[in-house]
Parts: sequence; structure tokens; C-alpha cells
Amino acid sequence: MQEIVRHALDARRYAYAPYSGYAVGACLLGGNGRLYTGCNIENASYGLTLCAERVAVAKMVSDGCQEILEVAVATPDAAAPCGMCLQTLAEFAIELNHVLVHCSDASGLARSMALHELLPHAFCSEKVRQNRRGSGESE
Ligand code: THU
Repeated sequence: MQEIVRHALDARRYAYAPYSGYAVGACLLGGNGRLYTGCNIENASYGLTLCAERVAVAKMVSDGCQEILEVAVATPDAAAPCGMCLQTLAEFAIELNHVLVHCSDASGLARSMALHELLPHAFCSEKVRQNRRGSGESE
């Protein structure tokens, strides 16, 4: 089993999911060659819940790394990341069609897809920059 997948599966053990019972683990390979894990962290005020992928992104960025090369997610049913997490991953992906997202369940890897397949027509920072240049707006 790939190391990144093993780390995502392992991170599920730390999930705090008393409300849904749905434990998620995530692992990112940063552009610095390091692996960053995360798990979901729920809250009695449900909307405050943090998804595993976004916890991993926060760890990576706060460690000084702003590039994602590869992603692994482990859930009970090998689900793909939710829309909010896909958008967050896209912000730091080196290139959407180069970043693979590996989806696993307890028995291991089920499928791998490019981030581009999961989030086609992504809204990315380049669009914001282009618009700012085009309109001549400045801060
Ligand atoms: N969850 C994640 O951690 N990542 C996702 O991409 C989708 C959902 C979590 C949030 C919540 O704790 C539980 O899974 C059920 O929605």
C-alpha cells in the first residue's frame, strides 16, 4: 500500500466524530516532500465541523508549505472529498490535472482520480488575478 494512503487510513483513528460516526482521515504530500495528515473534528454546533482534508491543509500551510502534490482520503465508504474541501485543495494544488486524489475505505485503496476530474471548471486564484488586472482595480 502507498505510504500516503496508509497515513490517511491511520489518521482516521484520531477522528472526533461523535455526531455522525463517520470517521475521515486525510493525508497530503506537500511540495516540500513532507506528508501532512488530518482528521475530521466535529462540534456540538454542527456547522463548526472541520473536514479532515481542510485540517491537513491548515497543518501544511501553517508549516510553511503552499503546494499540494498528491492527496489521500480514507472514509468508511471510499468517498471523494466534499465540494468545500475540493475547493480548498484546488487553492494549493500544483496543477489540478497533476494532483491525484486517492480514495480508500478500511480495506484499502478503492479509486484514484485527478483533482481536475472531481472539480472541473474550478474557480481558481488565476481567475481573480486576471479580473483584477483586466479591470484595473487595485486595493
Ligand atoms: N467530512 C470530511 O471530513 N471530509 C469530507 O470531504 C466530507 C465530510 C466529515 C465531516 C463530518 O464530520 C463527517 O465527515 C460527516 O459529514
